[in-house]
Amino acid sequence: MTDKYLVFGNPIAHSMSPDLHTFFADSTNQDLVYDRELVEDGCFNLQADRFFDNGGRGCNITVPCKLDAYNYADTLSEYAKAAGAVNTLKKMEDGTIYGDNTDGRGLVYDLKRLGCVLKGAKVLIIGAGGATQGILKPILEEEPESITIANRTFEKAQKLSLLYKDRVDACALADLEAKYDVIINATSASLKDELPGVSDEVLKAASFAYDLMYRKEGQTVFTKKALDLGVAKAHDGFGMLIGQAILSFELWRGVKPSFEDVIRKFRS
Ligand code: ATR
Repeated sequence: MTDKYLVFGNPIAHSMSPDLHTFFADSTNQDLVYDRELVEDGCFNLQADRFFDNGGRGCNITVPCKLDAYNYADTLSEYAKAAGAVNTLKKMEDGTIYGDNTDGRGLVYDLKRLGCVLKGAKVLIIGAGGATQGILKPILEEEPESITIANRTFEKAQKLSLLYKDRVDACALADLEAKYDVIINATSASLKDELPGVSDEVLKAASFAYDLMYRKEGQTVFTKKALDLGVAKAHDGFGMLIGQAILSFELWRGVKPSFEDVIRKFRS
């Protein structure tokens, strides 16, 4: 019988996950179908139960259900625990449900692919929502010199930094110095075509800028701004989307699709 996978979220119509995973399955000769399902308000558990009871093998979870999925899982990876959120569920041999979070590792994979050196770098992350919490552990594992979180609402940055007391600090946007090598925009500002509130001085001192959001055309207002200011490299989060999908697929199927094949197909 063909194995069933899907992505849960709301909204879900524009999710690229079905296209990505269908491409992965074709390119690695895996017999599976991958669908999408809109989650009605408060119905995640019900819908996930129904999926797994009807032979579902695994699923991705996107906004706003990542916390529901975290609570739904019987066991969690260290990355899911650190993120406080789950984007991948897998039904194990013994019937239990395992929850992982591949977002942050997908980001680190893409950063490395793009030539961004995190080891020894001063890293600034703008934003202090779920996206930031999801990427802290994988970035820390790359041994940067420092990680600073800055956010419009300073208290939220402070609270997140306390999860990694001596290794991550917090700063108000207005107090940032122009000293960061790598700047990651983890706010949702680009979705509204807004800039996240970092001064030009701070931004142009960086050598690498990355926006977790992505746009069809390949640049966001933030990455455009960085390039205009002379930052050597600036990329949107499309590669992170692919990276996290590849890691989910590998968890489910034990094979890893080629990143470059996927990016060539979907960015062209
Ligand atoms: P969550 O992931 O917790 O649901 P969110 O509401 O999607 O969070 O917001 C993600 C982050 O983007 C937050 O850090 C938010 O800043 P606040 O904590 O001050 O709300 C940030 N953000 C969203 N729009 C922004 C904008 N236009 N300028 C700066 N930061 C913005």
